[in-house]
Amino acid sequence: MNNNDDFISCWNEILVPKWNRFRHLLSGNGAVHSRMAYADFQIRPGDKVLDIGCGYGETCLEMGRLVGPGGEVLGLDCTEAFLEIANRERDEAGLDNVKFVLGDAQTYELPANYYDVVYSRFGVMFFQNIVYALKNAHKTLKPGGKLCMIVWRTIRDNPCWGLAKDVALKHLPPPGENAQTCGPGPFALADEETDRAMLKAAGFENVVLFKRNDAEVCIGTSLEEAIDFQILVGPSGEIVREAAELGREKLPVVREDMKASMKKYEKADGVYLPSSTWFIMARK
Ligand SMILES: C[S@@+](CC[C@H](N)C(=O)[O-])C[C@H]1O[C@@H](n2cnc3c(N)ncnc32)[C@H](O)[C@@H]1O
Repeated sequence: MNNNDDFISCWNEILVPKWNRFRHLLSGNGAVHSRMAYADFQIRPGDKVLDIGCGYGETCLEMGRLVGPGGEVLGLDCTEAFLEIANRERDEAGLDNVKFVLGDAQTYELPANYYDVVYSRFGVMFFQNIVYALKNAHKTLKPGGKLCMIVWRTIRDNPCWGLAKDVALKHLPPPGENAQTCGPGPFALADEETDRAMLKAAGFENVVLFKRNDAEVCIGTSLEEAIDFQILVGPSGEIVREAAELGREKLPVVREDMKASMKKYEKADGVYLPSSTWFIMARK
């Protein structure tokens, strides 16, 4: 078993129940950024689109509508449970031009020079070897085709994740080197210079967009839900999970401290914190 098999098991075995429970927050926050990105990415009727790390496939359905019956969208993901939901929702939406396939974005055999767009919302940074996955994306794009990615900027720019992590670290140790993780992690593409180097290494010489996008996102429809969310998901969730017995022991104090830190971000319909992403577009 190599590391990537471990990451894929982590998604399939550990993260699925949590993602299903908090889908409205995770996908909802993704949508805040991805809806803003469509104006920059300019996906057009007739385009052939590949969505790597598509999760539940919400963006595939949106792009299926954008490309219309003359275009097509393939969603690729390594987590079977997400794709079962994606297939069901595609059938309910009656979008015949959208398909899903189970596979590893780094190694999945893709046709050469086929797609107009390779898209990913918060997917690429979880692939074990990002450059390898980007090379696969480069191969499958037509000459002139575009890679469109939405990735998190640093955790400091994302209090929606960083606030709870800081609280967890006041009471618990950071996850060790052998922690079971879902891949390089949400902030693996936060640094512009690194991203440009990775893109270049994968063959993308022509980066046409590198744009910061800031938005407030909802981390819970109530203070209690925001605490549950941060205890189970994201960087603070990983700290609590990896601390095992100690994590369980300290849970009451971590929860109280999170409540105190998040209270000031509570609005009538939930808890809202700042978030920040990069919109990146590169041409083959
Ligand atoms: C943070 S989620 C983003 C999902 C979706 N794009 C969204 O924005 O809601 C990352 C996704 O990448 C998938 N993933 C992780 N490693 C992968 C790999 N090597 N190949 C394909 N998909 C992978 C996970 O199963 C998960 O659905």
